[in-house]
Amino acid sequence: MRSTRFGGLTVEVYRDSRELINAAAGSLFSQLRSKKESVIGLATGSTFLPFYAKVVADYRKEGVSFMDAVTFNLDEYYPIANEDSNSYHSYMTANFFSRIDIKKANVHVPDGSAANPELEVREYEEAILRAGGIDLQFLGIGRNGHIGFNEPGTSFESRTHVTNLTDSTLAANRPLFSDSGSQMPVKAITMGIATILSARRLVLIATGETKSDALHSALKGPVTEEVPASVLRKHGNATFMVDEDAIGGMF
Ligand code: GLP
Repeated sequence: MRSTRFGGLTVEVYRDSRELINAAAGSLFSQLRSKKESVIGLATGSTFLPFYAKVVADYRKEGVSFMDAVTFNLDEYYPIANEDSNSYHSYMTANFFSRIDIKKANVHVPDGSAANPELEVREYEEAILRAGGIDLQFLGIGRNGHIGFNEPGTSFESRTHVTNLTDSTLAANRPLFSDSGSQMPVKAITMGIATILSARRLVLIATGETKSDALHSALKGPVTEEVPASVLRKHGNATFMVDEDAIGGMF
């Protein structure tokens, strides 16, 4: 692994995605070792599938437990039934929550079936505050530089809100959307940029060359709402964990 600084953030470049995933899982284990009641922010998407598999496989032998941990997911499609196989609720239950020793009451994912989404987003923010804020937030990055479902143009001041998905995000995520009979929603509930920046520590992971344009803009372009991930350079305690394919010879 080699590392460098871009503005206020650290970029760690791993030889391949396996090494990167080991390191990202390691950052979660050390967080839980230092504070067993940690509040962890979680992400979805294909990048995180090997991450969850690694954490599930190793957490017991790493001597950590999720018994006292609290989690908040970044986002969820809207509207979608929690039990829809394409929901992030289903993704998280199948790949993570049902396979670790976490308490159901400590798990939070925005409710894509909320009848009153404005109330849901307010309550989600309040729940994060009540939990004491997020200690360690994991993030992926969209091909257009989005974080969570904060698409280009989202205010850096935004808190949890309902958002419209862009055509490029819909196209990127469509292959993950199975034909369960449900239409792919064109909206989502997402933590806002300001919500994400309130986390005490941020770890963004990106693998593969489809992410190199977004990473390039986020790291080397201006800090602008047009590239949501660029704001992470201002956080002060953020790390990008990327593989060689994703960084694409940028440095
Ligand atoms: C999705 C999620 C993001 C995720 C990103 C990348 O739209 N809302 O939280 O980081 O897109 O996903 P993937 O890992 O599948 O490329």
